[in-house]
Order: sequence, then structure tokens, then C-alpha cells
Amino acid sequence: MRRFFSILTCFTLVSCQTTQNTAPIQKFEAQPVANWQYGAMVASANPMATKAGVEILEKGGSAIDAAIAVQSVLSLVEPQSSGIGGGAFMLYFDAKTGDVQTYDGRETAPMGAKPDMFMQDGKPMEFWTAVKSGHSTGVPGVIAMLDLAWKDHGKLKWAQSFEPAIALAENGYPLTKRTAEYAEILPKITTPGADVIATFYDENGKPKPAGTIMKNPAYGKTLREIGQFGPKVFYEGHIAKDIVQKVQSNAIPGTLSLEDMKNYRPTTHQPLCQTYRVHLMCGMPPPSSGGIGTLMIMGILENYDMKSLGNSTQGWHHFIEAQRLAYMDRDTYVADDKFVDVPTQGLLDKEYLKSRAALMNETEAMKNVVAGNPKGSQKRGRDATGGVSGTSHFVIVDKMGNVVSMTTTVENLFGSQQMVDGFFINNQLTDFSFLPNDKDGTPIVNRVEAGKKPRSSMSPTIIFDKDGQFELAIGSPGGNAIIAYVTKAIIGVLDWDMPLIDALGLPNVIARREPAAMEYKRFDASKAQELNAMGHTFQDGNGAENSGLHAIMLKNGKLIGAADPRREGSAEQVK
Ligand code: DON
Repeated sequence: MRRFFSILTCFTLVSCQTTQNTAPIQKFEAQPVANWQYGAMVASANPMATKAGVEILEKGGSAIDAAIAVQSVLSLVEPQSSGIGGGAFMLYFDAKTGDVQTYDGRETAPMGAKPDMFMQDGKPMEFWTAVKSGHSTGVPGVIAMLDLAWKDHGKLKWAQSFEPAIALAENGYPLTKRTAEYAEILPKITTPGADVIATFYDENGKPKPAGTIMKNPAYGKTLREIGQFGPKVFYEGHIAKDIVQKVQSNAIPGTLSLEDMKNYRPTTHQPLCQTYRVHLMCGMPPPSSGGIGTLMIMGILENYDMKSLGNSTQGWHHFIEAQRLAYMDRDTYVADDKFVDVPTQGLLDKEYLKSRAALMNETEAMKNVVAGNPKGSQKRGRDATGGVSGTSHFVIVDKMGNVVSMTTTVENLFGSQQMVDGFFINNQLTDFSFLPNDKDGTPIVNRVEAGKKPRSSMSPTIIFDKDGQFELAIGSPGGNAIIAYVTKAIIGVLDWDMPLIDALGLPNVIARREPAAMEYKRFDASKAQELNAMGHTFQDGNGAENSGLHAIMLKNGKLIGAADPRREGSAEQVK
């Protein structure tokens, strides 16, 4: 990892020396931790999951052991967002070596998947039909990914980290407000899957209220088996059979097979690390567009003095324009780079980003934004994949200073809305472009292909200060809006010097399309009017209120954790 990491950091160092308004730059690699004395902490989307992570850290577990505990509880208490039937990306900072590693547990398409799998009568399939069909489920990657990370960095026995979730599943837990709300909202969006009804509705067909004590013995049994027999029972044993059976017996059957399950392998990649002024920011490479998207936005903004612009109309104008440029490139060029050439280096090249920044006008919104021509790119169709509401992000810092930043997802609400052995199976494959080609017949990079991973926007991020020391770990759910949510919060913390919680609470504005989505109720009305006068157009909501940012930072020798005020998460320090 370290070997690769240096190549990118050298490449960024050269151009960073030309950046103005920065303090002298000292180190451009994350550095080993000499003497960690700041304690340990967990921040996640649910207090029961946070508590489970804290409990494992208190028992001497590492950040990875705690991640297993947090994920297995989230799968139970926040099943609309993530779970062991889904996939995830993790960034890991190793305090001892100073390495940043990435773990890729993204779902893969079955070998039987075809580019026109989501087409019906020459048209893209209706979205929710596709979600609930057998075509939407990819091989779940979370368990295999956690196993790989645990083999590298676990300290406790594998089975031990599942104990908090098993206890909650078997003894009962209170249904959360958010799960109850989503179970109630679902029928207004689509006919809910039978397993959602069976789990979250009572015998009179009414949604169960928040606070109802829920038990899930099937899930408890699944975790006991995974704890005892390892991931093999999931990928080759009866759980694999149950998943395959569910997918193949769907009214629109999918092709997922026992072979697909057995052949799943989690992977590691070199992280994408790029300087942002005096900071070093690391993110997830393809098949996520998160690292490229967030680093592009920050790289474009580096050409402007965001600190002086501050939380002003001008500051927001620049942020919105940088998003428009970065999203256009992201939509056009990024997909699973095992299947298509992604011009990652070209997109992150500081000169290229400077040329993109030069398209921006100080006083007026750009009239027309088109994809750029970064080095190594070729003509591609633009993918218009839409947004959704599943997913969860958590951050863990252990008492050695190791850091986990993990975004995890079943994709949409309750995934494909079908349950197997106490957990929901994902609908991640609807993250592929339904259309194989754009309207001119140009192939779309994110088209379905056998064995491919759908492009993601998940952006687990870790940032280091000028001395290469851990500074901030952050991420969010939100589909393609994740890139906008995460960069907004980073600007709030690094450029606008806001307390972490206030930076998470800054209004969300997602400028992927026109009109941009805006969180009106949090945005200053006079600034919005000034932005309108500059030519920006906005639509209230449209996913803008849906961030779930969770973050931990080290500031003035203290760990500070924060949970997005829009959700029900928590941050807790280990005693
Ligand atoms: O991988 C992705 O980018 C999406 N499947 C994540 C979905 C999501 O964040 C929905 N959240 N609200």
C-alpha cells in the first residue's frame, strides 16, 4: 500500500507548492502515530450500534473489531440502510505504519447478468419494479470484506464482535423512529415487499410504532453461524442457498447462482490521496466515484481562496460551480475500472483541475457545463442514474489511533425489500445504468456487465494535517448526493473553521443537475436570492435533506465526534 501511496503524493506535492495562501507544507504522507493519547471513539447512525462499537473497544478490540460490531447491529436496528446482505467500502488508517488502506466489499453482478437486464420493451424498467426484481441483487460483500480486514487488523476473536448484535436480536430492541417512519412512508412510494410488511406491520396491517420491542431470532442464528463457521457459511453454506433461492424464485427471477456466491472475493486498492492546501485527503477509488468526485471538487476549489470567501454567497457560488464541473465528469467517466478505462490520474491532475476551475466566472453561473477531456479519456455517454435512500456511514478511532471510515449500504430502503435468514438482501445492481448506451448510441461506462461492480458514490474519507497526522474521518449516505454532502462538511471544517457539528449541519446543496437540489429550510433566503440573481436555479428538497454525515476529528489534542442533526445517530467516547 505504502509503495503506491507515495507515487500519488509526489505527484500532488509538485503542484501544491504553487498553491497560494497556505502555510509552509511539511509532510505529504500520513505518518505513523508515535504516542496516541487521545482515547477512542465511535460515531454512527444509531446509538445502539455506537454502543456496541464502544463495548468492543472497551474489551480491548481494535477499530476493525468494533466495525464488525457496529455493522452487525446496524443490520438489525437500521435495516433500511445497511446490512450483511449488502456491500461497503472501508478506508483504514494504520497508526503503526502510517498506511492508508482501502477495503472493497462492493457487490458484484452475477455471471448471468446482461447489459439489457434492466430494459423492458426497449425502455428502462420502472425503477421500483427493478428494485424488487431478482435482477437487482448482487453478491453481498460486507461479511467477506470485514473478514479480510479482521484478518489484517483484528485483535479479538471473530465471533466476539457479533455478540452485541446477537443479544439485541434475541432479547429485543426498540424499533427506531426512522425505521418506523420509512416503513410507513414506503407504501406511498411503492407497494412494499411482503417481508417489509411481515416485519414492520402488525396483524391489522398497521405500521408498528417507534419503540415497539422487536426480536429477530433468525438474524441472531445467522450471526451465531457466521461467528462459529466464518464467512464460508454465508458464501458456500445454507445462507448462500437461501439467498440464491430467494433471487431465483422472484416473479422476475435473477440469475444469481451458488457459483457467484462462492466466487466472491473482497479486494483492496490503493487509496486516492490528494493534497488540499495543507491537508492530505484520502478517498475510495473506483468502483466508487466518491474519491474522484470529492477530490475533484476540492481540487477545483483549491484554485480559489475558500477561506476568505467564507460562508458567503460567493463561497456557495464557487462550491456549486465546482460541483457542476466535477459531477459532469463523474457521470461521464467513472465506473468499475476492471471493466472500463477510467482516467483517474487525468481527472485528479492539478493542471486539469485548474483548467476546469478557469471555466468558472466570479459573478455568474456557467451557462452550460460539459464533460472535460482529462488525459487518458475517450468519448463516453453520460449516465443519468438517479438518487435513493438507504446507506449508513460510521467512523471508529481505537485507542492506538487506528481509524475506520466505512460507508455501508443495501442501496435503497430495505434493499430489495426481501429478507433471508433475518436480513434484507441488497438491490445494489440498480446502481448500474439501466440504459447500456446514451441517446447517441455511445456506450455508458456504468452499463451492466457480468461480474462487474455497479458504480458507487460512497465517499469514506480520511484527512491528515500538514504533519501527516490524523485530522478528520467522515462520510455519509445519500446516493450520488454523498459527494456534495461530504465536501460541504469538509469545507465547513477546513476552510470555514466551523465546529464539526455545525459543519455537518450546514445546508445541503447538490448541484448535479439543474435545478440544483437545496435544503431551503436551512439555507439563508437572502443568499439564495443572490445566487438566483447570479443565474443559479434551485429546487427545494429532492434528497437535499437526506444526509447522514458521521465524523470524528482530532482538534487541539481532543477527539471530537459528531452525528448529522438530521438523523438519530450518536458519537461516544470510550471511557
Ligand atoms: O453506492 C451508492 O452510491 C449507493 N448505492 C448508495 C445509496 C445511498 O446512499 C442511499 N442513501 N440515502
